[in-house]
Amino acid sequence: MIINQWYVAEEVTNITDKPRRVKLLGFDFVLFRDEAGTINCLSDVCIHRGASLGAGQVLNGCVECPYHGWQFNGGGNVVKIPSLPAETKIPSRARVDSYPVQEKYGWIWVFLGDLPEAERPPLPDFPEYDDAANYRCIRGEFLWKADYARVVENGLDFAHAPFVHPSFGDRSNAVIHDFELEQDEHSARAKVTYIPPLPKGIWSLVRKERTPVQARPSYHLSGATMRLDVWLTQTWQMVIFDVNTPVDENTTITRWIMARSFFRQPFFDGDSRKRTMKIFEQDAVIVEEICPETVPTDLRDELAVKSDSLMNAFRFKRRELIERGWQIDVEKLKAEYEGRRAVVIPSPGRREDGGKNYVLKTAPLRPGKSVPPLAVAAE
Ligand code: FES
Ligand SMILES: [Fe+2]
Repeated sequence: MIINQWYVAEEVTNITDKPRRVKLLGFDFVLFRDEAGTINCLSDVCIHRGASLGAGQVLNGCVECPYHGWQFNGGGNVVKIPSLPAETKIPSRARVDSYPVQEKYGWIWVFLGDLPEAERPPLPDFPEYDDAANYRCIRGEFLWKADYARVVENGLDFAHAPFVHPSFGDRSNAVIHDFELEQDEHSARAKVTYIPPLPKGIWSLVRKERTPVQARPSYHLSGATMRLDVWLTQTWQMVIFDVNTPVDENTTITRWIMARSFFRQPFFDGDSRKRTMKIFEQDAVIVEEICPETVPTDLRDELAVKSDSLMNAFRFKRRELIERGWQIDVEKLKAEYEGRRAVVIPSPGRREDGGKNYVLKTAPLRPGKSVPPLAVAAE
């Protein structure tokens, strides 16, 4: 699991007038809406006696710890300690880490790391989401007992479709002919042509011949986003846009939005939802049993071929982040800290402050240089 990235923490509609506790990258966070209506994300561990802020309440735009009533504002600063007389100064270390938040596509995106704003990557574009005149969107989520990087790779892997999704791919036409890869700093996409089987049910109205179909799988590092565009005809387009949040090392929540440019009436939503969920269910049978559970650090530990190029692009890019020293050292965390000492993911405010005014230490990270050299792994 990697810090200094945007992750989707929750659906906006799940934020009520109560604080909401979420687990991301193995750590607990609390989300709450302040008086201005802005959603905030704080480390969930109270620095007084370790209670969960998420179990408290929202009061005066702050989250109130359920144990002794300390009130934390959106910046993570304590503004009230009820056991102290009003004139007493609040200690400067009375604060928790507060993380940048954005609301987009109906999701709450949280930046888990301490990079200043100018160095944070952008969020992925999804123009179809705001184009209600031409696209109908439905949304849902899927929970995996699997590492998020395995889940993303599965979404980028076109060659498995004929074997795992018989309604989508045809095993007698499994060759992937064109495979053009385009990359930029935060994302990559491939153009693929394939011949699907003839669809059944209402979808047989869309395609009547076994003609090649264009598809474009892509990823974006922010949100560990996977996007798949499929053009069933020249104008009938389907987009599956999903964000993959590591809850912990071996649990991933995929939140998905499916946009379609055809059958835009709500009547067809049920069928679209069923088909989308079925794809995830078929994938989970395989992905939850992959050995090893996490993507190997040494890329020579698995054999890749040309049709794996997009997955490899994601692996290499992810590896660059690991080489920057942004991977959480889960082994060290378990061996030295778990159950004994609370640690947190560093926030931008902590970096500005030099960490002087924060009580908890930060999570152990793997030194970037501990990763085997890229040149060797790329053979
Ligand atoms: S533990 Fe939070 S106020 Fe005491
Ligand atoms: Fe799949």
